[in-house]
Amino acid sequence: MTDHMPDDLSAAGRDLRAYTDELRPAHPVVRNVAGEWVLLRHDLVVSAAEDDVTFSSAVSRHLQVPNGLDGDDHAAFRAVLDPFLSAEALAPFVPVFEGIAADLAASAPRGVPVDAVADLGTRFAVRAQSAWLGWSPSLEDRLVGWVGENHAATRSGDRLWTQDVAEDFDALILSVLEPRREAAAGDEPGDVTVQLMRTRVRGRRLTDDEIVSVLRNWTGGDLGSLALCVGVVVHHLATHPELQDRLRGGVADAELDAVVDEILRIDNPFVSNRRVTTCPVEVAGVALPAGARVKLHWTSANRDEDVFGTPDDFDPAGHAAANLVYGIGRHACPGRLLSTVDLRVAVRALLAATTSITLAPGQPAEREIAPVGGWARVPVLLG
Ligand code: HEM
Repeated sequence: MTDHMPDDLSAAGRDLRAYTDELRPAHPVVRNVAGEWVLLRHDLVVSAAEDDVTFSSAVSRHLQVPNGLDGDDHAAFRAVLDPFLSAEALAPFVPVFEGIAADLAASAPRGVPVDAVADLGTRFAVRAQSAWLGWSPSLEDRLVGWVGENHAATRSGDRLWTQDVAEDFDALILSVLEPRREAAAGDEPGDVTVQLMRTRVRGRRLTDDEIVSVLRNWTGGDLGSLALCVGVVVHHLATHPELQDRLRGGVADAELDAVVDEILRIDNPFVSNRRVTTCPVEVAGVALPAGARVKLHWTSANRDEDVFGTPDDFDPAGHAAANLVYGIGRHACPGRLLSTVDLRVAVRALLAATTSITLAPGQPAEREIAPVGGWARVPVLLG
């Protein structure tokens, strides 16, 4: 184990997967240049995620509902927010998502390169998420612009820029809340945003700051994640024509979902989440003090050879139980079902509208740069 790795795991030009594959066997815990302890091994990531008393999620001075909360506060918010993302709550939106995906796949140009991340993933994610929340389609370009800027700011590591981008987003969300105040005070069922504005936690209404934070979580980060997931899945399909043909021939939802999850395990674009230790703790023989900043590296853990054998081996059924794409423990992703449905619908529509998806010749796909994972651009030809 090294004390200080002279690297922040984000060196430009390196593929995060290859880099963490190389580090993990000898250095299951590394310290990056920001002073964070990065857990790379599957068992370490799982143990830390499941020990939410020692590994607190209160990592930011900004309000983050529910992800920055611990203990009873966290549980109280999850109890009132999770129902928005249940199978029952999402069921009416599935046909809406299907319509959006079918339109997008049908209108995507043929014979010229289409970027699976920007042209398909981001557009689909923004339209689907807006439809779910009841937001006007006129916000689409602003949201798409925001996803791009948020990525650029995150990649740059420039905190001020990242903060500016976050503030832009908060302003956008407030502009969505303002015209709904009256509806939120009334009795009509209203859209999902109105229902969120009416939500009560511990007997009181959510504050504006809490609502903004929840919506930031439901949209801000996740529009980008969904777009990246689409990029990873489309890249895999374009480079595995036999799998593409098998799926195009028709498979049950459960099988398609397992295939998508396994593709994302191999190349997990949602790289890591932060924690802070509440007391001294030893991790793989390394003594972490109280107050240590820790990163759970999902991308690396999902490629741990001790759990998955050769990291790139494709085994949807065999690897499902240990797959960490949506996290584990009390903070595990409440949006898993929504993402799964979105990805299923998007992949199905794309396969149904095409006879082939291939990488565009002469336009190589480009990897994202850590801390973002997956592909930045995946130019494909739709046949
Ligand atoms: C697109 C693919 C997505 C991936 C790969 C993903 C992954 C994750 C992971 C790994 C966590 C655990 C974080 C932690 O332990 O600190 C998480 C948490 C979370 N996700 Fe997702 N997510 C996705 C989409 C979504 C969507 C669509 C939503 C909501 C609409 C969502 C809402 C959340 C929230 C609110 C949390 C925080 C939960 C908590 O701290 O209790 N996610 N997600």
